[in-house]
Amino acid sequence: TKKITIAIDGFSSTGKSTIAKQLAKELGYIYVDTGAMYRAVTLYAMQQNYISETFFNSKELIADLDNISLSFTFNEQLGFAEMFLNNVNVEKEIRTIEVSKLVSKVATISDVRKKLVKEQQEMGKNKGIVMDGRDIGTVVFPNAELKLFMTASADKRATRRYKELLDRGDKVNYEEILLNVQERDRIDSTREDSPLTKADDAIEFDNSDMGLKEQFERIMSLVNARI
Ligand code: C5P
Repeated sequence: TKKITIAIDGFSSTGKSTIAKQLAKELGYIYVDTGAMYRAVTLYAMQQNYISETFFNSKELIADLDNISLSFTFNEQLGFAEMFLNNVNVEKEIRTIEVSKLVSKVATISDVRKKLVKEQQEMGKNKGIVMDGRDIGTVVFPNAELKLFMTASADKRATRRYKELLDRGDKVNYEEILLNVQERDRIDSTREDSPLTKADDAIEFDNSDMGLKEQFERIMSLVNARI
């Protein structure tokens, strides 16, 4: 069998990463969560006081981008790679609602996107990769052998994110999460650089009501037809 590139895009909390992790495990591929990279840059911008809920000094962030080093380290116990920002494990910090509220603003900046897209293309140059995000099938790997576009109702997505955060022991409010998911989708879909959109050759999956097992089987048969 040959190694392929699998690109998974879609709105927030549509279950992209769950499917991507399963696929990578089944195929022995690398899984890259590109949202984690945008989140890590956002965390850095927050730490340096370049961004808060009331201001965003994008010029200072852009001038500082070369000092941001991102890497993933596979955690055997967890079964997935954790995000490191300048050699510090930030896997927990990047999932907070504070980061979620600011990340889409940071992701509109072209210089940020250029840096991350370049790193993502480097990680995928030998194929055998499953990458999820918003612009993977359109910008990062326009020639990916398999492109998936995931959708689900806003309510289903907010419920999913709410449960995830509750499970981690975070104090969260459903309304706040629903608003955040909708606001991120709005910014992600309307930004000028690499807006979230389905690639012409992507296959759409609405998993509002589809079970995970059924979905995984359907996607695996698409994979098998290509390897
Ligand atoms: O995937 P996740 O929800 O963690 O992504 C967080 C945010 O990062 C998205 O809402 C989007 O603003 C940005 N993002 C992006 N391009 C990607 C991945 C994520 O703009 N490829």
